[in-house]
Amino acid sequence: MECNVLYSAGEIQEKIQDLASQITEFYADKPVVGICVLKGAFVFFSDLVRQMPDLDLELDFVRLSSYQDATESSGRVVFSKDIEIDIEGKHVLVIEDIVDSGRTMMFLTDVFKARKPASVRICSLIDKTERRVEELTVDFSCFSIEGGFVVGYGLDYAEKYRHLPDLCVLTF
Ligand code: IMP
Ligand code: MG
Repeated sequence: MECNVLYSAGEIQEKIQDLASQITEFYADKPVVGICVLKGAFVFFSDLVRQMPDLDLELDFVRLSSYQDATESSGRVVFSKDIEIDIEGKHVLVIEDIVDSGRTMMFLTDVFKARKPASVRICSLIDKTERRVEELTVDFSCFSIEGGFVVGYGLDYAEKYRHLPDLCVLTF
């Protein structure tokens, strides 16, 4: 297996600064609940939220799994840890590592919408478009790619590579 750098740690930080300004401007004075989708988004989430000190922000975490160590979504999403904040009437920003088929985000945003938030938006480090099956809007993203399997900066293959500082493409 080969691992080649796609976006360096420096490039990622530059994109995050831009994105953080966009998000801060977009919500302005509205309070926001930022929800980290574990485990893949943990690195992105911690870098992103620290670039938005002016935002009125509450943070929470959700744990989902749909991949079962494979490289393609099974379509079955397991909800293994719920958020603890009551989101009714609040603006929700779901912060994810990568949107691929869109099934995971469709499932999660449907669950959240049923709790009557003021809005639900999606922020993903990577928007991977080639295998999209659900019609959903990725409202904020750093990178858009067609395909390929990406690891590092929180993203894994069978729980490995999450600790790499760069985003890399894995060749099998
Ligand atoms: P979806 O439900 O097909 O959109 O899959 C989304 C989830 O699959 C993401 O949250 C990731 O955990 C995982 N995933 C999809 N593509 C990749 C990839 O290229 N690298 C690592 N994980 C991926
Ligand atoms: Mg994920």
